[in-house]
Amino acid sequence: MEKVKRFGVSIEESLLIKFDSFIKTKKYKNRSEAIRDLIRENFVNDSWEDSSKHVAGAIIIVYDHHKRELLDNLVDIQHNYQNFIISSQHIHLDHHNCMEIIVVKGAMQKLIELEAILKATKGVKHTTFAKSTLGEEI
Ligand code: NI
Repeated sequence: MEKVKRFGVSIEESLLIKFDSFIKTKKYKNRSEAIRDLIRENFVNDSWEDSSKHVAGAIIIVYDHHKRELLDNLVDIQHNYQNFIISSQHIHLDHHNCMEIIVVKGAMQKLIELEAILKATKGVKHTTFAKSTLGEEI
């Protein structure tokens, strides 16, 4: 296990009160774990600013499965990006709507491009992109 270092932090009292309230809301047991997560989150967010990076994440789409040609389009799109798709899961939300969770990994530009193509596909009602990391920067 990696060595853990301690360091002191000087912070305005009012900011510390807000921080303690924040970590209580977020269910952290102590300040250290909250600070570690904030640092890691910052590094991951930063990595998404650098388009040369390789990253990982999940694209979630919701669509109307009654539109038959849409299903063909979605399969075609995913085959075109097969090198970037690790897995996908299909969930039948209700009689009309399906959700697909597409786990992606690779060059950020290609993943953003894939999300944009899925979002712009007729019949896709909503997309969201959970942007994560391959773990290198944290
Ligand atoms: Ni379905």
